[in-house]
Amino acid sequence: MLNVVIFGAPGSGKGTQSELIMKEFELDHISTGEVLRNEIREGTELGKIADEYISKGQLLPDELIIDILGKELDGKKDSKGVVFDGFPRTIPQAKALKKMLNERGTDVAVMLDLHVEEDELVRRILERGKLSGRQDDNLETIKSRLEVYHNQTAPLAGYYREEGTYHAIRGGGTIEDIFGLIKKKLDSLVTDSQDTQAHG
Ligand code: AP5
Ligand code: MG
Repeated sequence: MLNVVIFGAPGSGKGTQSELIMKEFELDHISTGEVLRNEIREGTELGKIADEYISKGQLLPDELIIDILGKELDGKKDSKGVVFDGFPRTIPQAKALKKMLNERGTDVAVMLDLHVEEDELVRRILERGKLSGRQDDNLETIKSRLEVYHNQTAPLAGYYREEGTYHAIRGGGTIEDIFGLIKKKLDSLVTDSQDTQAHG
């Protein structure tokens, strides 16, 4: 399986690039943010809890989000691979993901870290906020999301460096250029795994 963690600050292009990766490599996509926003729309109990955290730009508790991820993964049993978007966001989430994938005989193939300047992140999210209806696309919540990202999520780069799967991507150009860089990396992983299968 080609399991890809797409990583980066809020507004770095995780969702945008996930769509392109899915289409090109025929992978599934799990976005924990999307799952939570659906729960909010449907007015479920989980949605009510999620709403409180998301509107403040805070992370939901690890146990809750790991449980959600497990259920999503169970729904993708015959997948060629999954793009994980917005998960993991903490070290315990990364360890839980590894355990869940290992139990299914697989692992994370690569972590793609999208690097984008902070003023560009803010500009993109404010622009999207004009239409998105996302309750976290306003300046106050963006500041808190960025702070949470730096304090709790960015340290995952070190975790994946140790795992040997870290790969930085310049995330500041056009959507097509960025996807070109991602495609090059993923193509090389696909070729490597075919070589391994062919030569044992
Ligand atoms: P989540 O939904 O994951 O949001 P996020 O990480 O804040 O990121 P965004 O979705 O805002 O941005 P993105 O990186 O996907 O960029 P996009 O492609 O949209 O999480 C939301 C909340 O849910 C969290 O704050 C937390 O409360 C909770 N949550 C979720 N997962 C959790 C977890 N694992 N643990 C705990 N809590 C969790 O692009 C942004 C905009 O820019 C778009 O309008 C796009 O069109 C535009 N754009 C993209 N690329 C470019 C480009 N190259 N040039 C110009 N514009 C571009
Ligand atoms: Mg997103």
